[in-house]
Amino acid sequence: MTTDTLIRGRLLSFRRAPEHAGDRESYLYEEDGALLVRDGKIAAVGSYSDVNPKAGAETSEIDHRPHLILPGLIDCHVHFPQMQVIASYAANLLEWLNTYTFPEECRFVESAHAQRIATQFFDEFLRQGTTTAVAYCSVHKASADAFFTESLRRGTLMIGGKVLMDRNAPQGLLDTPQLGYDETRAVIEQWHGKGRNHVAITPRFAITSTPEQMAMTQKLAEEFPDLHIQTHLSENHDEIRYTCELYPDATDYTDIYSRYGLLRKKALFGHAIHLSEREADAMAESGAVAVHCPTSNLFLGSGLFPLKAIQRREKPVTVAVATDIGGGSSYSMLKTMDEAYKIQQLLGERLNPLESFYHMTLGNAVALDLVDRIGTLDEGTDADIVVLNAAATPAMRLRMETVTSLGEELFLLQTLGDDRAVVETYVAGKASKPDGLM
Ligand code: GUN
Ligand code: ZN
Repeated sequence: MTTDTLIRGRLLSFRRAPEHAGDRESYLYEEDGALLVRDGKIAAVGSYSDVNPKAGAETSEIDHRPHLILPGLIDCHVHFPQMQVIASYAANLLEWLNTYTFPEECRFVESAHAQRIATQFFDEFLRQGTTTAVAYCSVHKASADAFFTESLRRGTLMIGGKVLMDRNAPQGLLDTPQLGYDETRAVIEQWHGKGRNHVAITPRFAITSTPEQMAMTQKLAEEFPDLHIQTHLSENHDEIRYTCELYPDATDYTDIYSRYGLLRKKALFGHAIHLSEREADAMAESGAVAVHCPTSNLFLGSGLFPLKAIQRREKPVTVAVATDIGGGSSYSMLKTMDEAYKIQQLLGERLNPLESFYHMTLGNAVALDLVDRIGTLDEGTDADIVVLNAAATPAMRLRMETVTSLGEELFLLQTLGDDRAVVETYVAGKASKPDGLM
């Protein structure tokens, strides 16, 4: 038997990227709106008075007024095995990786540990209103199995991959070109398309892959042309220097991935902060995505990603946004965009609140090529939904008293909001706050 749910509140869903702070055409906003949810999908969207009559007699109604109802937030770059790395004190990326991150990831050889952290991971992301994440697991197949098992149990649309790495890390974190290939294939066969799971081909970065492993990664990319690919690019100056020493024939860092056929649509390059004009052109021409990780870039002192400038180029680069847990310092996409805003301030650019909320939802769905499923409240898409309260704390409530527009409310949510502003998270139509109904 199908049971319908009617979710009432103030709806906000983007239609396209906003061109300026007052771009009213770029989004749908319904002051007294409703979503009719049926079989995990949005069956109708609009004003309450239009949608209510479409609900059957058995429909249960949840009234979230006066809160905002948005598509579930999307995080395009996280490391699932780094939940116990977040908040580690290091001078820079390479020190942080060697001192904290690699030793911690070694623990994921134990599937009981991987399963425990997977449970925590899903609890935390859903608590933060994030319904889709693009995750690196560890090198161990067991970590990918734990991640996807938990995702299947929760009914989430998640993208993840077993990391490929065969050098420059502790022995316990290394595969080989053949083992990395075989286990990635096994993860794809076992998990891709199971429930709402997607598998990404995941070479960690060029420093930890030999040319032989990169060649095997290319083979995977050719055999699975529709899969996502994720890796790291141009995050830190020492990293860039060392990478180019390891691949002396390549023109630059981006060219290494290009030579192995990894620069393409649905390929996600974490950080991509210090790109040359040539590299940005190559990214743009291929349709590859630069993933901005603002809290991580500040926390590790990696640099200021030119979010606005890179999208304004004659050949614009597609951009996604992400927390980069555990290099990032917050699980919240609201806090992430707060830091993205401040980085643009330092670069003399303006990031308006519509753009921020676009990036967390539709913008990231576009970057992932998943707009038919997530990122909007459009009819027919999956009912992944977040409910936000811009007056969640005493300080927010006080500031809300002087707010007079939707733009101001969004900016307040981004600046002062975090998990406390998340009233409810729905996964495929089901309320899923961990201390609630899960
Ligand atoms: N580059 C290679 N691995 C990592 C990682 O785990 N985190 C970050 N921020 N950068 C990386
Ligand atoms: Zn990363």
